[in-house]
Amino acid sequence: MPSHNIRLMESAYGAVLFLMLVTASAAQDGCICPMNIRTTCEMESGSCICRVLGSNQRVNCSTLTSKCLLMKAEMYRTPRRFPKPEHAFLDNDGLYDPDCDASGIFKARQCNKTDTCWCVNSAGVRRTDKGDDNMRCSELVRTNWILIELKQKERVDPFLEAEVENSLRQFIQNRYQLRQHFIPAVKYDYPFIQIELKQDLLQKTYRDVDIADVAYYFEKDIKRTSLFHFSNAFNLSVSGEPLDIEEILIYYIDEKPPEFSMKQLTPGIIAVVVVVVLAFITGITMFVFNRWRKTGKYEKVEIKEMGEMKREENA
Ligand SMILES: *[C@@H]1O[C@H](CO)[C@@H](O)[C@H](O)[C@H]1NC(C)=O
Ligand SMILES: *[C@@H]1O[C@H](CO)[C@@H](O)[C@H](O)[C@H]1NC(C)=O
Ligand SMILES: *[C@@H]1O[C@H](CO)[C@@H](O)[C@H](O)[C@H]1NC(C)=O
Repeated sequence: MPSHNIRLMESAYGAVLFLMLVTASAAQDGCICPMNIRTTCEMESGSCICRVLGSNQRVNCSTLTSKCLLMKAEMYRTPRRFPKPEHAFLDNDGLYDPDCDASGIFKARQCNKTDTCWCVNSAGVRRTDKGDDNMRCSELVRTNWILIELKQKERVDPFLEAEVENSLRQFIQNRYQLRQHFIPAVKYDYPFIQIELKQDLLQKTYRDVDIADVAYYFEKDIKRTSLFHFSNAFNLSVSGEPLDIEEILIYYIDEKPPEFSMKQLTPGIIAVVVVVVLAFITGITMFVFNRWRKTGKYEKVEIKEMGEMKREENA
């Protein structure tokens, strides 16, 4: 029937037109940086250009942004609402407004806007004592090994180790583009999970994401302050069941031992620069109902030498 055909064609045409309109408006409104929410984006001569808040540096939105630029953006994003009480001491270690070089990498020497300076590793973690303006940091020491320790929320049946390993490997590869090669091990001993990331400079091509950036994105995801635009896509699950994490601990290990003075360093463990501890209790359900509340308890951000940690654990 001709009239039928025409109507079919009309509706097909309508559908195509509709799709074209949707696509066109999506392209206009869709100028965003999917892998970094801390950006402002604009169409510039036909392409979507995104710059990081704080530094205004242009970023490639199909890959991770460097931790240095992200930390800078975070400092920029968080204006202090109330003045600091007089004589109050703020333990700012771990989060500071960093100096990044032209490619977004941490500068070896960091200062806190006064004349207090210190040296950091490629993950931006302090690896020397604090000094004054005369402090020299001859090179940026690479963090080539990162251990992420997770504590799973209590549940009746532990998962199978092979399934936890497989899920986390897939997750890290798909979400952060880190090749399997750089994940030598994932261990599971309920309720603890340990993910090992290892990457020497020689193994890393310019297209590879850096393990320090991966750890930072992962930490943010676990704390449910994702840096991705579509954070609802965050779905950490093992064999179809959600994997709820209540604690994350990150160890940064450098190519060279850290240079903290006045400690009796024990050979063998001195190459370990520790630790960012973020203890918090949260869950997907909690998050949905309480998303406006601060569910995360920001416990402590501190750098210690491994021996000191051990002594504290034993105390
Ligand atoms: C810089 O660090 C020193 C020593 O930790 C501290 O006394 C000072 O208040 C810090 N300044 C700022 C602006 O954070
Ligand atoms: C952006 O990153 C992607 C993924 O690593 C890479 O393929 C692409 O070449 C990069 N683009 C630019 C302009 O550097
Ligand atoms: C999360 O992933 C699991 C298994 O991959 C799937 O069954 C579940 O529907 C996903 N949940 C969401 C909210 O996407």
